[in-house]
Amino acid sequence: MKTTEWRQDSEYVALVSDLLAMPEVQKLADYTQHHHSNRLDHSISVSYNSYLIAKKHGLNTRATARAGLLHDLFYYDWRTTKFNLGSHAFIHPRVALRNAEKLTELTPMEKDIILKHMWGATSALPKYRESFIVSLVDDYEAINEFFGPAQLKKFRRWRRISLKQRILNQLEK
Ligand SMILES: [Fe+2]
Ligand SMILES: [Fe+2]
Repeated sequence: MKTTEWRQDSEYVALVSDLLAMPEVQKLADYTQHHHSNRLDHSISVSYNSYLIAKKHGLNTRATARAGLLHDLFYYDWRTTKFNLGSHAFIHPRVALRNAEKLTELTPMEKDIILKHMWGATSALPKYRESFIVSLVDDYEAINEFFGPAQLKKFRRWRRISLKQRILNQLEK
């Protein structure tokens, strides 16, 4: 997905500008997320694309945009740092939630979005449709970022159709 389009979307920017101005959020640019992206670009991309879907379906755009932006708010290299308490998939949403709570007040929905964004790899079911959206968009972005532009063309169309269908299935439940 396009990475700079969000800058022209004033409605989106108004929802996240206070968070984007924080050094704790900007610091995410120092971390590689997947092969072709840093963690800040990844977080903005997940946030913005989730926001667009939430908006289209008349859902909570503020919670989706803000929690989407904060969903990976952790400061370690997940490829090298290992934990005794559980897998990266289990631990990092909890770390991100704790870090996010230090920056801003979070609604129950925003907490659920951050905490459940690894749904699929972790078992706790999201409570809100907004949480499903962020989780699905996160999967999609991870694949895009991993493959990079060259290989991506082959996968993009198939993934877009597949993602859309999965989101629609969840929204219908
Ligand atoms: Fe994550
Ligand atoms: Fe993520």
